[in-house]
Amino acid sequence: MKQNLLTFADWTPSAMQNLLELAHTIKQTPAAYAKVLAGKSVAAVFEKPSLRTRVSFDIGINKLGGHMVYLDCQAGKLAGREDAKDMAANLSCWADAIVGRVNAHSTLEQFVSASRVPVINALCDMYHPCQALADYLTLYETFGKVDGLTMAYVGDGNNVTHSLLLVGALLGCHQIVVTPPGHTADATIVAKAKAIGQQTRAQISETTQVSDARGADVLYADTWLSMGDTTPLATIKEKFMPYQVNEALMAQTGARYVLHCQPAHRDLEITSTLIDSEQSLVMRQAENRMHGQNAILTHLLGA
Ligand code: CP
Ligand code: NVA
Repeated sequence: MKQNLLTFADWTPSAMQNLLELAHTIKQTPAAYAKVLAGKSVAAVFEKPSLRTRVSFDIGINKLGGHMVYLDCQAGKLAGREDAKDMAANLSCWADAIVGRVNAHSTLEQFVSASRVPVINALCDMYHPCQALADYLTLYETFGKVDGLTMAYVGDGNNVTHSLLLVGALLGCHQIVVTPPGHTADATIVAKAKAIGQQTRAQISETTQVSDARGADVLYADTWLSMGDTTPLATIKEKFMPYQVNEALMAQTGARYVLHCQPAHRDLEITSTLIDSEQSLVMRQAENRMHGQNAILTHLLGA
C-alpha cells in the first residue's frame, strides 16, 4: 500500500526509532544503499525558496541511484496554472515519488489524494518533518541517544517547532517550548505530542519565560518570521529580542549545544558568534538533512 510522509504524527515510537537508526546506518555505509532508487525518479515541487532541502534531496537521491526533477513554482503559484490535484496526478504518471514544499498543508493533502505514488513533505506552513529527523539524528550522533535528552526550543511557535515536538515525543526527548506571548505552537499539535509522550515518557512543556529552559541539554533557534509571513521585522523585533539564543542564554540554561535549522539571521534569533562556536551543531544538522531524507526515501521506495 502507498505510504506518504506528511507529518510523522501517526507513526509509532518504534517505527520512528527504526527510521532514525536507518538514517544513521545509511550515513555510515552509503555504498550498501547506492542502488535503492535505481531506475526511479522523484518529482520535487517547490512553492517556496530552498537551499538545504532542494540540494540535499537532489544529491541524496543521486547517491541512492535515482534521479530528481525540480519544479520551480515560485514564478507562479502552484494552483495558478492548474489544480494541485491535477499536478500530482500527472506527476505520478512518471515519477516514483513526489516531494513537495508548499504554502499550505492542505496542498499536500490534495497531492496525496490524487497521487499514485508516495508524497513527502519538504516543509509546509505547519510541519517540517525532514528537518526534525535530521535534527534528532544530529543529537543521536552527538549524545549517543535521544531518549531522555531535553531540548528547549526558543522563539516563534512554527512548522519546525511542530515537527520537533512530534518527532521528539516519539523518540522520548523532553521538550520545553519557549515562545513570546501570542506566538505559541499549535495547541492540537502540542496535545498530540503530549499524548505520544505518555507512551515514551517524553515530557512536553510550554512557557513564555526563557528562564524555564534551565537544565536543557540543547537550545534550538529558528527564524522569527517564517517564509510567507509578511509581518515587518520592526514590529516584532522588540518582542522577540528577549528570546534571542545567545551565549548568555547558553550559560544561564547550562545547555551544551545549540541547533538552528537555517536559514539563520545572524544577531537576530541567534548570535553570529554562537553559530560559529564549538557549541554549534548547525552544519551537522544541514549535513544530516540528506541522510535523514535518504532513510525516508529508502523506507518508502526501497525494495
Ligand atoms: N532548513 C531548511 O529547510 O533550509 P532550506 O529552506 O534552505 O531548504
Ligand atoms: N520556519 C522556517 C523554517 C525554514 C527552514 C520557515 O518556514 O520559513
